[in-house]
Amino acid sequence: MSVQRLGYLGFEVSDVQAWRSFMTEKLGAMEAGGDEYSARFRTDSRSWRLLVEKGPADDISFAGFEVDSEEALFAIGERLESHGVKVTSESSELAAERGVLGLISCVDPMDTRVEIYFGATELFEKPFVSPTGVSSFLTGDQGLGHYVMAVPDIDAAMEFYVQGLGLNLSDIIDWTLREDLTAKLHFLHCNGRHHSLAIVGLPETKKMHHFMLETELMDDVGFAYDKFDVDQSVVMTLGRHTNDHMLSFYGATPSGFAVEYGWGARQVEPGWSVVRYDRISMWGHKFVGSH
Ligand SMILES: [Fe+2]
Repeated sequence: MSVQRLGYLGFEVSDVQAWRSFMTEKLGAMEAGGDEYSARFRTDSRSWRLLVEKGPADDISFAGFEVDSEEALFAIGERLESHGVKVTSESSELAAERGVLGLISCVDPMDTRVEIYFGATELFEKPFVSPTGVSSFLTGDQGLGHYVMAVPDIDAAMEFYVQGLGLNLSDIIDWTLREDLTAKLHFLHCNGRHHSLAIVGLPETKKMHHFMLETELMDDVGFAYDKFDVDQSVVMTLGRHTNDHMLSFYGATPSGFAVEYGWGARQVEPGWSVVRYDRISMWGHKFVGSH
């Protein structure tokens, strides 16, 4: 029993209006309601996928993992508790706010809130329309996308996410950022998407390193690249990753962490064998700018 896909992400942000513009005008997500203190965004038929709420952290506030049924939710709760994790059954008010039928939560070893739910709200009657003309985001059985967190203690994080939530290791990259700085990236999957979460032992001040959205067409990435390029907010140039084969670039968000915008990743297949890499990219992904 494992969580089945990444369903949603919440960020605490100091500038909600900047995020509103960023999400809609740069990423091509569709606003799904909000006010001056918060805003939600859609990337597909779901009622929402990304939530920003006003606050000083400029970091992740929660991640939501999805399971397919109430039985599966119960089983995940038991699995977490058997590994010593305190699990909270959330109120029907919060479940309604998230638009889900059932919701439990816990806190990972880095004090990041993790929610697990079943029964998300579908809005086929209000089709997703990207304000920038993105053809569509690749979600479905692969979930929202992925996110990468910097953690001070990789072993504790792996214990929680692998033993507790049931994610599986895809591969490891030994990433040389500078001559004097290397980091071990652990990539974790819970469906065909190569990784829904990656964790990296880095001395970062923010938990959130980046989140990733994958588009259906390569040109969607190119059009978005131009939007970041025009105001010099590209963080890493176009490139192709060694492990998931994603063709992507990285851009700055209004909160200091990054977004990866990609296309064309390969999926984890049955019989997948864990390997390791010395490089994050086959080509490209050069750091640029001051971000
Ligand atoms: Fe990524």
